[in-house]
Amino acid sequence: MTIEGKRVLLIVSGGIAAFKALELIRLLRGCGCGVTCVLTTAGAQFVTPLSLQALSECKVYTDLFSLTDESEMGHIQLSRSADLVVVAPASADILAKMAAGLAGDLASTLLLATDKPVLVAPAMNMRMWQHAATVANMALLAARGIHVVGPDEGAMACNEFGPGRLTEPPAILAAIEALLAPARPLAGRHALVTSGPTHELIDPVRYIANRSSGRQGHAIAASLAELGARVTLVSGPVSVPDPIGVTVKHVESAQQMLDACQAALPADVAVFAAAVADWHVARAASGKIKKLPGAAPPALELVANPDILATVAQSGPRRPRLVIGFAAETDDLMANAQAKRARKNADWIVANDVSPATGIMGGEENVVHLITQDGVEDWPRLAKQEVARRLAARIATVLR
Ligand code: CTP
Repeated sequence: MTIEGKRVLLIVSGGIAAFKALELIRLLRGCGCGVTCVLTTAGAQFVTPLSLQALSECKVYTDLFSLTDESEMGHIQLSRSADLVVVAPASADILAKMAAGLAGDLASTLLLATDKPVLVAPAMNMRMWQHAATVANMALLAARGIHVVGPDEGAMACNEFGPGRLTEPPAILAAIEALLAPARPLAGRHALVTSGPTHELIDPVRYIANRSSGRQGHAIAASLAELGARVTLVSGPVSVPDPIGVTVKHVESAQQMLDACQAALPADVAVFAAAVADWHVARAASGKIKKLPGAAPPALELVANPDILATVAQSGPRRPRLVIGFAAETDDLMANAQAKRARKNADWIVANDVSPATGIMGGEENVVHLITQDGVEDWPRLAKQEVARRLAARIATVLR
């Protein structure tokens, strides 16, 4: 896939690096990608609308209140006219405006009004880049799904050395290509993922459950879909939203989760990230159990649930080529995880320490160890999304 025939809305904000936008336009045009430029007032101090227009071969927009521009193409329409919005260079000022949701000029209005993905290439003095305000703005923008490329480290126009230089145009082009024409190594593959807790009924209003949020499993399903896989996500009750581009089967109990998994087979890869309850109540009451005065608390008889991972991993010809389990442990992490891999016939185990002090269960980050037939890899502390991306990339190396 290429970016030929795609369209980029390029916002050029103020900064000495604005001249590099010209090179970026040349590279994009060379790939057959259309470019419409928007120049901020500060950006116009560094490059002229005429040079942007000459290279993009397209009208350059500068003014929010231009009647001519509005009659040709309203600013809302302009904000949605491209496949991707790129801000290069992105000054501290425009990043702060984006974080705050300001819309006082054309560029910030377009960024607030757009429904397209946005990529920013920051460029500023290193102290401005490292300032707590910019750091907080970047964290907020990243959490909102804004894509970032750079900045690089190096000598700056102000004779300082450090992070803040605009990434070179070829690297910005590569980031644009990754967004507009992503590699899809898992195209044509089917991935099955379980996620979240299960609820085991005691009576119609009470259940046994655990603290799983579903964040890690859902992120894995989303990452596999991003790499082109057709994904079936079997999810227990969670409050995180269904990932985009994934078929989600909502279940409550372990038995329902097993049935949904078996119905989803065959699959090329199965990732069992759900925290399945180990037991269910032998005879769940059909009506609400009442507290009768003086009566003893009810005794719950528990029965083992089916092991979904082990069942699928031992399903003979229907076994997915790659079966991956999780081992959430509070003690003897590696020994327990290795034993689990053998006992459940999994190919890989993603082991993590879920002791309360780690904050992993229900949290945003994870520290995992990937156990494969070749040994153990210790991964650094990462956002659950990043763990998911790395795992999906590893899966792609096996299934491609
Ligand atoms: N798993 C499953 N079905 C179950 C229990 C677990 O599919 N009924 C899967 C989980 O999704 C996970 C792996 O098995 O991928 C490990 O689950 P875990 O609960 O940590 O292990 P258990 O087998 O329950 O062992 P223990 O409770 O002794 O740690």
